[in-house]
Formats: sequence, C-alpha cells, structure tokens
Amino acid sequence: MQIKLSFIQLFLSLLVIQASISVKADEGMWLPFKLSQQNYQKMQALGLNIPVEQIFNTSAPSLKDAVVSLNNGSCTGSFISNQGLLITNHHCVLSDVQYHSSVSNNYLENGFWAADYGAELPIPGKTASILIDVIDVTEKILNVLPFGISEQYRTYLIDSISNELVDQYQLKTSYTAEISHFYQGNQFILLLTEVFEDVRLVASPPSSIGQFGKDEDNWMWPRHSADFALLRVYSAPDGKPAPYNDKNVPYQPKKILNISLKGVEKDNFTMVMGFPGSTQRFLSSYGIQELEQVVNPVIKEVRGIKQSIWETDMQRNSAIKIQYASKFAESSNYWKYAIGQNLAIRSRNMIENRRELESRFTSWLSQNPEKVEKYGYILPSLAVIHTFKTSLVKTGVITMETMISGPDLFLLALEALYFKSQLEEIQGQPEIMEQALEEFRQSINNIHKDFNSNLDQKVFSAMLDYYRKNIADSLRAPDNELFDLKDKLNSNALANRIYAQSVLTNPKRFEQFMTKPDADKLQNDPALLFVSTVMNHFAKSFFMMEEIDAQTDGLMRQYILALTDMNPDQEFYPDANSSLRLSFGTVQPYSPRDGVKYNYYTTTRGLLQKIRTSPQVYQIPADFEKMLIKGEFGTYANSNGQMPVCFVSNNDITGGNSGSPVLNGDGELIGLAFDGNWEGMGSDLEYMDGLQMCVNVDIRYVLFILDKYAGLQRIINEMSINKTER
Ligand code: ARG
Repeated sequence: MQIKLSFIQLFLSLLVIQASISVKADEGMWLPFKLSQQNYQKMQALGLNIPVEQIFNTSAPSLKDAVVSLNNGSCTGSFISNQGLLITNHHCVLSDVQYHSSVSNNYLENGFWAADYGAELPIPGKTASILIDVIDVTEKILNVLPFGISEQYRTYLIDSISNELVDQYQLKTSYTAEISHFYQGNQFILLLTEVFEDVRLVASPPSSIGQFGKDEDNWMWPRHSADFALLRVYSAPDGKPAPYNDKNVPYQPKKILNISLKGVEKDNFTMVMGFPGSTQRFLSSYGIQELEQVVNPVIKEVRGIKQSIWETDMQRNSAIKIQYASKFAESSNYWKYAIGQNLAIRSRNMIENRRELESRFTSWLSQNPEKVEKYGYILPSLAVIHTFKTSLVKTGVITMETMISGPDLFLLALEALYFKSQLEEIQGQPEIMEQALEEFRQSINNIHKDFNSNLDQKVFSAMLDYYRKNIADSLRAPDNELFDLKDKLNSNALANRIYAQSVLTNPKRFEQFMTKPDADKLQNDPALLFVSTVMNHFAKSFFMMEEIDAQTDGLMRQYILALTDMNPDQEFYPDANSSLRLSFGTVQPYSPRDGVKYNYYTTTRGLLQKIRTSPQVYQIPADFEKMLIKGEFGTYANSNGQMPVCFVSNNDITGGNSGSPVLNGDGELIGLAFDGNWEGMGSDLEYMDGLQMCVNVDIRYVLFILDKYAGLQRIINEMSINKTER
C-alpha cells in the first residue's frame, strides 16, 4: 500500500524518525562509572526507572556490587542470594563440570544438583572478582611520558609507572589493583577489585538441556537452550576472600539482584551489565582485510581438521567424549565465529565501509591543514605496515593454531621446557627442588587428565602437515631439523617415534621419569626436541611481529584521537577490554534477511518441534521431555500459558558478557545473556544496527528447571523473587 505524503507530512515524519533515532541508540558498551547524562536520559526514555546511583556507586551498595567477573573476564556472573549464590551460563562452567565428571559419574550428561551446602563442589582455579573502585590515572601516566619516545620505550615506561601505582594502591587498600588501558592507550584507569578464590559448583543442567542444539545452534537464533548454571562464592568467616577451606562460609554480597517473573514484551527496556572481552570497532580497513583474508580462513581450516579428528573418537568412546568436551566446545565456538565473521564482513561490505570512513577522514584533513602534521601520516603508515606484515601474521596464526594450541603434546613440552630450565638453575637447593618437582608433576597430571595419546598423535600428524604446507619455508622450522633421517619426511613416522618414546605422552613413563628426574634425559626427549625446534624458528618472526604490532598499536592510538577530534560532538565508547560495561536496549524481533522476520522469544513448543524434526541433533532427557509435553508450568508460564525459553534484545555485547544479567527497567533480573546471532557475527568490528542481537535465556525457564525438574527448592527459597502479576 502506497501513501502519498504532502510536503508538510513528509517533513513531520522526518522529524519523528530523527527523534526515534536519537532515542533508540542501543549501540555501545558504556563505562558505568562514566555514564553521561545524555545516555542516562536515553535509558530513561527507553524505560529505566531507577536512579543512576543505584547502578554504579562506590559509597553505597549498587548493581555493580552484584555483578562479578569470572576468571578475570572469561565470563560474567551475578549474585542472586545473600548466601553468595551466583548465576552464570552453563557454557561458562563446562570445564568445571567436566573436571568433576567421570564415566560412572557423568555430570555433563546427567546434570549436577547439589542437595545441600556440603555437596557443593570446589572448583580449583575459579575466581570471582567484584569491582570496588575506579581511579582515573591517565594524567599520572601520560604526563610523565617524554615527547617523541619510541613505542617500545613508551610501553616500558607505562608498565613501570603502572606497577608502582598498583603497588601503592594495593598497600593502601588491601584490594587487588590493576590498570586497564582504554581507547588503545589514550586513557588509563586503575581498577580495585576484591577477588574471591573459593567458588563452588551448585547446579548445572544436563548438557542436552543447557547446550540444547549443541554446535548446530551455537551463534544462532531462534534458540532453545537453558544456558545457565549456579555457583556459590565462599569467604573466610569475616567475609574476606580466602582460598578454599572447609571452614569458609557462604559470602554475603553487598547487593543481590531481585528476580522478576513478569517476563518480556516487545519494546521493554533491557540493560546488560557484564565484562565484555574484546572488540575492534575502530579497526582500519587494512585490519579488517587481514582478518578476512589471512586470520579467519586459517582458523576455519585448521580447527575444522582438528575437530573432525576429535569428533570421530569422541563418538566412539565415552571416556574420550568427557575428556575432550570442553576442548571441543572452545575450539568449535571460535571456529564457527571465524566463519560467521567472514560472512558478515562480506555481506555488510565492511571493508568498503571502513574505506569510506577513511576517505572522509582524509578529506577532513585536507580541509584542516593544521591537522595534517598531527594526523596526516596515520593512514598511509597503516597501509604500508599491513602490506609488510601479512606473511608474519599468517605464520603467527598458523603456528598458533597448528602447534601451540594444536596437539596437547605442545603444552606438555612447554611445561617440561620450563621445568628443565628450573632444574638447571636450582641444582643443590633441595627444598626449592622439591616444590618445583611437585608443581611440574601437577601441571603434567592436569594435562594428562584430559589427554588421549593415540588421539593426540593423530592431531599432531595432521597439524604438522598443515604447518609444513602452509607456512613459507623461510619462516618455519626446516624439515631437516624437524625430522630424523629414518622418518623419511613422513609426519606419521615422526609422530610414531615421538609418541612411543617421549616421557610426556604416557603417564606411566612420566611417573617413572619423575622417580629420577634428570635434565639430560629431558634434553633429548623427542617431544622437547621437536617443540624447541618449532619455537626457536617461530621466535624470529614473533619478535619482528611484536615490533610491528607496537607500531600498529601506536598508529591506532593516534587514529582514535584523530577520529574524536574529527567528531567533537560524538560520544565514543572504548573498545571492550574485560572491564565492567553497561549496554542498554530493548526487546525486539528482527529481520535476518529480506522477507523474513524472527519473533523475539521462543517457547518449549519450538523446542519440542526441533526434537521431532531433527532428533539426531536435538535431544533432552526423557523425563524432562515428558514434563514439557505435560505443560504444567505454573507461575513460570507466560500469559498464553506457554513456557518461554529464550528471548532477544538489541543490547550491544560480546564474548565475556556470557552469563551477564539482563535487567528490566526496575533493575530486576529477567534473563541471562549467552550468545549472539548468526546475522550479527561481524559485530565485534562494526555495530550492526537492527541485525545484531543479544540472545538471552528467560529467567522463568531457569526457575522452572530448578524448581520443577531438579527439585531444588532450597535454592529457590534463597532467591528474592518478585511474583507481581503481569
Ligand atoms: N557462542 C557462545 C559464546 O561465545 C557460546 C555458546 C555455547 N554453546 C554452544 N552450543 N557451544 O559465548
């Protein structure tokens, strides 16, 4: 239907569009401690009902005290009870659940529900950090940097001033201090955090429910996974962080999130608080081109090969399936990401868009001759640097993917190389030796726990083939150093020899070695010989790359300054760097492509449909399926009596936000962010308005599972649930 508009009508409608654009603005991972009045007003216009002091405050409890960073930014969690109960994603605790699983006690497959405090499982190495305070130290750092110094010297000076500041604040406050770089090193903020080290596993659904749709559905919408898990933070009896101890008590957070059962409707306000890890929204066209043509294709190919080798054995053997669950998920997550990012780069013309921005920049310079001296060199220098670095970048990413994070043999050998250097240093100091031995044994045992020598050997051969075929001869370890004559340049023969002889590839041989550890024996171990050869050759390109990276970083730092200079009225948010961020938006349906529209929420009806149509991919435990079919959802149902599962909102998030609380206008918990969508996979490079969505699990589905399926009333009773009618 066509409507003819008069000139006045057209003018008025443009005004309306203008207004709605300025209100919409869902782009941005904002610093909650620097929230501008303008952003706060936008949030209010979208439906936020709480004062800004309730979001971030260092003198009274605020939402920031309920949001924690897990393992320094790998994921986000939030407190939902005054007994330290923490909610996050299932995929954020996958390796922890795997750690406690065995063929006879398979928590990955069956789920884990702790019946009481005593049954909650310690997780070695898991930390939860709460942000206490932030101090802008930009001037303290920048003011002492002499003019015109090299990038390397700049980094060195910044590191030493930072270390001093960190020491000062740690002494003064007893908190952990750390300095974060913003806008590529134009701004520095000291973050004070309280880091808790006793974090235990409380609840985790069966993987079939938590990762429903597995890798097929990963990075996709419509989605039906209950990607949640519960942890508990324990503290010393005085409430301070303490290492694991059975005398520790549940931590009492300063602030907890109330949970709302009201659910979501289109256009409802949503706010996500969390710790996004990394974005490159300012990257140059050359940088994007490098990702598209060099980095992503390697990740896609190499991981594809590795994963298919793993998969065959995982399907055959249930012990291997457990051992490799987390490795597989981590690898395939960014394998699929690399594929999706390249599709988005092409379909959105990202390189072209960036070139356009760069030519606008250049013409701005030509109109402002006084800026030419300041910024004129930036883009031409970036162009030159990127042409030079391509082959080094390729060498780096292939060495990383096929070797350093290829077969586990590499990790084992790197540990052993480190131990060997210690052995030589600490001769004749029996006490230190004892400790070094124990640490070495521990680290090797940890790797062996999830290691299958036969399988790793297959990965090794395939990775070596790729390495030799795809790195220029002059940049890789030469064949005559990698192979023995007997190997006849055959990767399988070399692999046979290493895996049959090395003390690292067999736990029994390793134990035997440890009864009489000796540096000479390690020196001649075939695994160490191989890994040292690869690393020695990699070192050359690595150091060159480090220098080039320092130059690129310096140019990018200037470029960001220049862009802010060119757009004085625009409010820029810094790229993600694992610091606390806030992103606001609304619940929205979206159109993934011409002629198609996706609804903003899913229900268990769709989940059951997926099971019926593709049972090879979609399965859930039979008792759970029965419950869903029966459909007694009680207070957790939506107004149509259906069980909501997931929803999408247009919050701007990225990796590290996993597990982030999604809050409504009253600051209540309505869901957990756990993924992005396929059409928005380029969002780490460019904000993809209208296409990039934040995929969340609805808190009502989480509570339904805990309450009705797991029967964890003790946990439900701890929470503060607002049951206000819809
Ligand atoms: N893509 C999600 C992220 O990076 C992880 C989702 C995990 N689910 C899965 N099926 N692998 O946070």
